[in-house]
Amino acid sequence: MILTAVQSQTILNPQLEIAGGRKLSGELRVSGAKNSALVLMAACLLTRDTIRLRNVPPLTDISAMGEMLRSLGGTVNHTADGIELNGNHINNSTAPYELVNSLRASFFCIGPLLARMGMAKVPLPGGCQIGTRPVVEHVKGLKALGAQVTIEHGVVTAVVPGRGHRLTGGRIYLDCPSVGATETLMMAAALADGETVIENAALEPEVVDLAGLLLAMGARVRGAGTPTITITGVERLHGADYAVIPDRIEAGTFMLAAAITRSHLRISPVIPEHLGSVITKLEEAGCTMQHDGIGLTVKADRISAVDLRTQPFPGFPTDLQAPFMSLLATAQGTSVITENIFENRLQHVAELQRMGAAIRMQGNTAFVEGVPQLSGAPVQGTDLRASAAMVLAGLAAQGITTVRGLEYLDRGYAGLEDKLNSVGACIERVSANPALVNVAA
Ligand code: UD1
Repeated sequence: MILTAVQSQTILNPQLEIAGGRKLSGELRVSGAKNSALVLMAACLLTRDTIRLRNVPPLTDISAMGEMLRSLGGTVNHTADGIELNGNHINNSTAPYELVNSLRASFFCIGPLLARMGMAKVPLPGGCQIGTRPVVEHVKGLKALGAQVTIEHGVVTAVVPGRGHRLTGGRIYLDCPSVGATETLMMAAALADGETVIENAALEPEVVDLAGLLLAMGARVRGAGTPTITITGVERLHGADYAVIPDRIEAGTFMLAAAITRSHLRISPVIPEHLGSVITKLEEAGCTMQHDGIGLTVKADRISAVDLRTQPFPGFPTDLQAPFMSLLATAQGTSVITENIFENRLQHVAELQRMGAAIRMQGNTAFVEGVPQLSGAPVQGTDLRASAAMVLAGLAAQGITTVRGLEYLDRGYAGLEDKLNSVGACIERVSANPALVNVAA
């Protein structure tokens, strides 16, 4: 049964059927960055005024974050080009387990809740498909700002002691440059008494985007995008109108779509500085890349093997490791890919092998020997970016690839199949045969 994209959001077990082997051409639009939008939404808890966020991608994760803010007493309204958030009536500092469990990023609420209410109770987010994902650094930093933090029965309770319920600025050294910890602590410090210095902070563009919103709200933040971020707390923050940066991971996925189909695509908007390592690796692999101010044109013909090691920004992003592996599975020669960020982020290897990829594993390293042709097969997306990797492999494979696990894909890519179809791909969202789904489960 063939479904429209809208129908398919509501049906059980949708899957993508991809007829591979088509050349792509034309232009792909990049949506706003999911990972930025999620943290910017949490930052709205820091003020009683309205925050208008533009360029917010229409994703299930964004809806889940909206639910979280509503559960705390906030209002969330969708507008033509984004969302309006108001935290004037925040009356609850306890985040529901179900929402944190379904969206890890909703743990971000702990920083602004604590700064604004002097108290926050947020369930531990736990691990996910790609790793255990601890929040030790977040907790350590909140303690350095004067919070008393206890973890009992799977819930983090943070309280600011004393009468004013205001956090106090402090020095924090992060043992690893965690993106989430840096963001949580920037939000907490924005309303603290005095100066906070975060050392070994994450350098990711989403951290810089958060600083941009905080500055627009009246916060005093310096050094975002460097390893030392200094925040001088202010009495109150005000409303703002702010546009989310383009999603660098979606842009990278589209660049890889051009490369894996040996096609020519223009992708916009792209901020090339956000994708330096990815652009360099694609050039090393044989692609021609041209930036024209807003967009990036990618031309691919022959693809050669390259080696990759995932690292914090500006190193090669872990979120593009799986999609890049799909490309290298079709390259000439053997590539060595090492995943250094998350301990369980190579589950797509087995699925790519089902499509004929020649990959040998050793610990967190994959040796990928390119094959002349992948072949279509039923495959499972095991997490968000692994699902994108399967779609890319399906674009290049001979025959039909069926990708299951769209609950992951729809969390991070807005209308992926519609966008790819608009440049010549042949992807349909279909209803899975329930009998086959049960057998697989
Ligand atoms: C964010 C992104 C995610 C991306 C990741 C790395 C969001 C919503 N998600 O996740 O898409 O893959 O950055 O770029 O923005 N760590 C610790 N202790 C801690 C915190 C982290 O050891 O207290 C480790 C993690 O286990 C991991 C590494 O640090 O190995 C990076 O994690 P982190 O930067 O925190 O990732 P997230 O913010 O969760």
